[in-house]
Parts: sequence; structure tokens; C-alpha cells
Amino acid sequence: MSCFIGKKAINNTMIGLKNLEYRGYDSSGIAYIKNNKINIQKEIGKIENLDKKIEYDENVNIAIAHTRWATHGKANKSNAHPHKIGKITLVHNGIIENYEKLKKDLASSYEFKSDTDSEVVAALIDSLYNKYKDMKKSLSKALKLLKGSYALVIINDDLKDSLFAVRKDSPLIVGEQNNEVMFASDIPALLHFTKNYYLLNNNEIVEANTQQLKFYDSNLKLLNKEKFFYDDDCEVISKQGYEHFMLKEINEQPYIFKKILDTYVKDGKVLDMFDISKYDEIEIVACGSAMHAGYIGKYYIESLAGIKTTVYYASEYRYQHHFFNSKNLVIVISQSGETADTLAALKLAKENNVDTLAIVNVYKSSIAREAKYVLYTYAGIEIAVATTKAYMAQSLVLLLLALRVHQDSNIIKYLCKIPNLLLKYINKNYRKYALTISKYNHIFYIGREVDYYLALEGSLKLKEISYIHSEAYPAGELKHGTISLMDKDKLVIAVVTDDDVKDKTISNLKEIMARGAKVLSITNNLENLSDYQIEIEENNLLTPFFVMVSMQLLAYEVAKIKKCDIDKPRNLAKSVTVE
Ligand code: AGP
Repeated sequence: MSCFIGKKAINNTMIGLKNLEYRGYDSSGIAYIKNNKINIQKEIGKIENLDKKIEYDENVNIAIAHTRWATHGKANKSNAHPHKIGKITLVHNGIIENYEKLKKDLASSYEFKSDTDSEVVAALIDSLYNKYKDMKKSLSKALKLLKGSYALVIINDDLKDSLFAVRKDSPLIVGEQNNEVMFASDIPALLHFTKNYYLLNNNEIVEANTQQLKFYDSNLKLLNKEKFFYDDDCEVISKQGYEHFMLKEINEQPYIFKKILDTYVKDGKVLDMFDISKYDEIEIVACGSAMHAGYIGKYYIESLAGIKTTVYYASEYRYQHHFFNSKNLVIVISQSGETADTLAALKLAKENNVDTLAIVNVYKSSIAREAKYVLYTYAGIEIAVATTKAYMAQSLVLLLLALRVHQDSNIIKYLCKIPNLLLKYINKNYRKYALTISKYNHIFYIGREVDYYLALEGSLKLKEISYIHSEAYPAGELKHGTISLMDKDKLVIAVVTDDDVKDKTISNLKEIMARGAKVLSITNNLENLSDYQIEIEENNLLTPFFVMVSMQLLAYEVAKIKKCDIDKPRNLAKSVTVE
């Protein structure tokens, strides 16, 4: 969402909304006050569909806009935000878990036009406002009735010079400059307007108009909030000449790698960033690529620091049986720092008195603020929905955590060479392999040990941007059923770099090729293993970083050949703040 109170409100709101496009959506809408009347426009599809319908008017000084990623109800105009019921118009991010009960309670007084939970929130607030005739009191009461996650920005017909906002477990940032105020889901929406921002804690209420910006707690006690200044480079929100943000971010990796080393390594030693050695066991909990980075962390922590490490999907972790132990550490990993499943898993660990460490990219994000300890990955704003630099940064920070315990000077020295070596892999020609890959509809990524962990991420990268069905399998597991699928219409991409297990994987390749499937291997093995081969020259503990870049660019080239929307793949959101 992107909302503005001040001069040129429509322009500022829409610039903010466009800077949030990368987060993924399927419809959009705007509400603004013109001639003392609320105007609402909504469109499905891309923001430009909405933009061309808006009658821009520089005299408008209040506007709220929203891009929707469909949860309750299809992607259509009536379900798009903003929603207006009675005197209340609002935009909402999140999921209201008790909306059906609330809808039933309100049905006698309201007629609902959409399938959304957000419209029910508008009706609830309107009903409370009709009762109390006090907007802040109505919001304070509403918070006690809502269950789930929400970031809300609200216009009240009776208070057309103000915006109200409140959040719980869904991101909402407040930007301020010269008595003008902007509300947004993420920093990139603000940066054209200001670098001054405030962070909202759960159930804090904001009242903003051009005379004042006030924060209250849920009992309406006035709060004195700390103002932050965003000190990263505004320029990050441009492609800087690259065709896609994803390609730009892949190319940024050598620089990010060096930036992280400069932050956490000094005079050949890893600084005291966080000491994992005092824990008996480590549980790593995350989603998607962050979870795959967690597996890379497992590999390094177990082999270098000698601490048993288990990796979990956050969405599973929350519901399984736990044997919490205060001598264990839970590490949550999240680029956005707003992933609902990961945030919920973090809270579960905290409730059970387990130390929690968050490895996060977005400064002061919800997960960063919720965890007991936090380490930032300094990967900079990542715009492409498919993560690349943030995933690599997460993997590097986990490696450094392991090296903080086992200060292997050779590895630490070699780390400094990686940025240059990464350039070698970035500049390889992957298109010729991509042309082969793009012809297949079913692709299997396989590997053993860390090669399997890399295969997990390679497979996700390919399918999420090229829409080719792909799955990752432990190489040794294939023969326990899935090999029945191997025939001339399948392609297997094998990661073969781990010396300890290489021979076993090579025999798996032979089994696969004997059944007619083609094999592309990503390997530092010199002799020819397969039908196609991407050479990794390095053969050491840090080889995974070279494999990461190769698989990112392989996926990128395939998606280009298939003319996919690489930075904003269908159905995906950059920050999954719903469960
Ligand atoms: C990565 O390419 C995906 N877009 C997705 O799997 C992502 O890694 C996952 O949703 C976790 O996001 P987070 O790191 O912001 O928590």
C-alpha cells in the first residue's frame, strides 16, 4: 500500500505504489478526496491499467492506494482495494482470521459487495464509529475484536483532512517530511518523498493530517516515537542499465559479498558477530530460498563449528511437536523480515524461552525487531521477487557464524578472493545451456549433501521465473521411485562438486542416462560426466557460492528465452505476509 497526505497526494501515492510493484500483485486501486468527495478507482492487472484511468489533480491532498495479491476472493475489481463501507474507506494488507464471524455479526447492518476480509474490517470500524463518534476510540475497540494480521490505512468521511493507520504483524512504515506524511508497506515506496521514517509496533494507532502526526498505543496513550533515517542509496530502485532487476542483483553479488566481509571480518578474523558455540543444537527456520540458505548454513555450521543443526520449513515448524531446550538456538532467516510463517515460528520459539537469532536483510523489519538477536545481511534493497543476492548473503552470514567458532585462517583468507572469482561465473555464457533447458517441461535437480542443498535452490529459481516444472531430489533417493519418470523427455541437472560423495552421484547419473534422460551437470569434476557440463573450476569448501551464481543465471537465461516476467513472476509476492 502507498498512502499520502499533503501536496500532490495522487502523484506521490502512485509513485510509491509503482515502487512497490516488485512485491507482486494482481489488481490495484486508489481512493482520493476531491471537491470534498471520495473518489475510488480500481483495476485488475498491472498498475498502468489503473494509472491511465486516474484524473490527476495536483490540488488533491489525501490519497490511499493499494496493490492486492488475492487471498480471499478472486482478482477482480470488487475485491480490489480500497474498500468503502459507510463512512469508512480503507486499504488493508494481511489476513483477518475471524472475518467470517465478524461478517455474520455485521450482516444485519451492512451489505457486502466483495468476498474480502478487508471489507468486513471497514464495516466493523464504521459500526464502531457510529457508536462512539470518535475515530481513535473506534480503532482502539476494533483492534480488540480483530484476529489475524493487518496493516490498515483509513479515510473517514467525517474527517476528510486526516488519515488513520494501524498495524499488527503486517508491515507498515510512516514517512514524514515538512508536515506531509506517507504510509507504505516498505521503504522503496517512500524514498522519492523522504528518508525520514517511523516504525509502528503492533496495535499502535496513527493519526495524520497536515498539522500533526500523532502516535498512540492501543489504549490511546500518546507515544513519542523514534524517527529513523534511511541511509541506503536511493539509486537502488533503478535497474542501472540492466534489463531486469534480477540480473542487476545477480551482478551486485561480488560487491555485496565484499560489503559483508568488510562488516564482519577484520585482520583475517571473523569479528564477534554472534557466538553460536554456547548452544547445544541449532534449529534453522525459514521459507523458500531463505530455508535453502539455511541448509547451506547447516552444512557449514556442522562441518566447521561441529554443532548439530536442523533445518525446518517455517510453515511446518509452527505446527509440529517440539522439544524446546533453553540450551538450543533458533535461527530464523528472512530477506523481507515480514514473512508471516517465519514470524510466527519465531514467536513460538520466543514463547518457549529459546534464544532467537534473526538473519534479515530489511533493517528494523518485524522479524528483526521481534528476535532476541539480529544479524543483518546488508544485501541492499532486493526488488526482483526471485531472490538472488539476499540468498547468497544469508548463506555467507551463516558461513561466517561457523567461522566465528572455527577461525580457519585459510578459508577466511580465501573468502576475500571470492568477489573476483564470482565475476568469472557471472560472465560465463549460460544461454547455450538455457536453450536446451527451455525445451523441456520437466526438470529434476539432484545432488548429495551440500550439492542437494544447492539443487533445492536451483530448482526453485528455475520454476519460479520460467514456470517450467522442476523438483530437487537427493541423488541417492531418485532410484526409490522417481526414477520411473526418467525417459527421453526429462532433463536432470546434477550438482556434482562435493568430493566426499561425488562418485556415488556419478553412478546415479549413469543410471539416469541409461534410461534415456539427458543430464546437465554443474561440476568441478574434470572428466566428462554427462550430456552437457558447466565447469566449476574451484574445488573447496566455498565452491557452493560459484554454483549459486551459475544456477541463478541459468534460470535467468531460461526465463528470458521463454519471455517470462522475470522480475515479477505470476502469482508470486516479494514479501509473503499471509499464511
Ligand atoms: C525466493 O526466490 C522466493 N521468492 C521465496 O521463496 C522467498 O525466499 C520466501 O518467500 C522467503 O521470503 P523471506 O526471505 O522474505 O522470508
